[in-house]
Amino acid sequence: MMPFVSGDRIHLVNKKGRTYRLHLQEGAVFQFSGETIAHDDIIGLSDGSEIALSRGTRFFALKPTLAEYTLHMKRGAQILYPKDLALMPMWADVYPGATVIEAGIGSGALTIPLLNAVGEKGHLISYEIREDFAGRAIKNIEAYFSPSPLNDRLTVHQQSIYDGILEEEVDRIVLDLPEPHLVVPHAVEKLRSGGIFLCFLPTVPQIEKVVLALQESKVFESIETFETMLRPWNIDGRSVRPSLRMVAHSGFITTARKVERLIRAQVPEAPSSDLDV
Ligand SMILES: C[S@@+](CC[C@H](N)C(=O)[O-])C[C@H]1O[C@@H](n2cnc3c(N)ncnc32)[C@H](O)[C@@H]1O
Repeated sequence: MMPFVSGDRIHLVNKKGRTYRLHLQEGAVFQFSGETIAHDDIIGLSDGSEIALSRGTRFFALKPTLAEYTLHMKRGAQILYPKDLALMPMWADVYPGATVIEAGIGSGALTIPLLNAVGEKGHLISYEIREDFAGRAIKNIEAYFSPSPLNDRLTVHQQSIYDGILEEEVDRIVLDLPEPHLVVPHAVEKLRSGGIFLCFLPTVPQIEKVVLALQESKVFESIETFETMLRPWNIDGRSVRPSLRMVAHSGFITTARKVERLIRAQVPEAPSSDLDV
């Protein structure tokens, strides 16, 4: 059981699926269409409890999921959406204990799932050029994690990643910024062999540049680009069909694997064949 405590931010969801956000505070009162409930009557209940307002209207009291938290947190820069956030740690293969470079931190929407993926023993280093965005992101991250991961397993460098990566032998590089092709030379130097480079880009000309840079570097293999589409469905009695509206485009994900090639002197001589002329 995870009882609600004063200070929690929770969601009240009615039977129509409408959500009302609530910051629980001792002594405060929630009002809805002339009905009320004291926050004190919600504090101490477990996540998922049903509550009744003064004239009987019912809601479920729920802790927001990470996807809900992300969509509602305050933004500095444009955030990545849960559809892509769900995929990026998987396709970058971010694992517990990994050392991961991120840029830019933006509003911190990608930083949170990356921190979840590296776990308590991993380290996430985020580069961000804008002080105001870094400040906003840190507030969002600290409102999500307790204790704060900052200066423990999260380091924020306020500098351009295009100028270089300070860390050595990093396991993963995950980018959401306009010119990831400018990071490729630094990835060549600082990503460990077998490490993964991943970037998210909204347009095709940007992908062309980054893929060319990866190919020309000669140290990246398995270069792949894909996009995903999330199509919600309407399931209501006999009306079972795709929703009439969907977000048709967010961006493309490109991944590549760093390799170490045999140098020519290490390549064994090919056995001579009778067919050779
Ligand atoms: C689209 S936002 C990232 C949003 C973030 N992934 C999120 O979901 O909250 C792009 C960020 O990259 C930062 N940025 C742009 N160029 C950069 C650079 N050269 N080095 C570091 N950060 C940079 C921008 O200031 C901005 O915060």
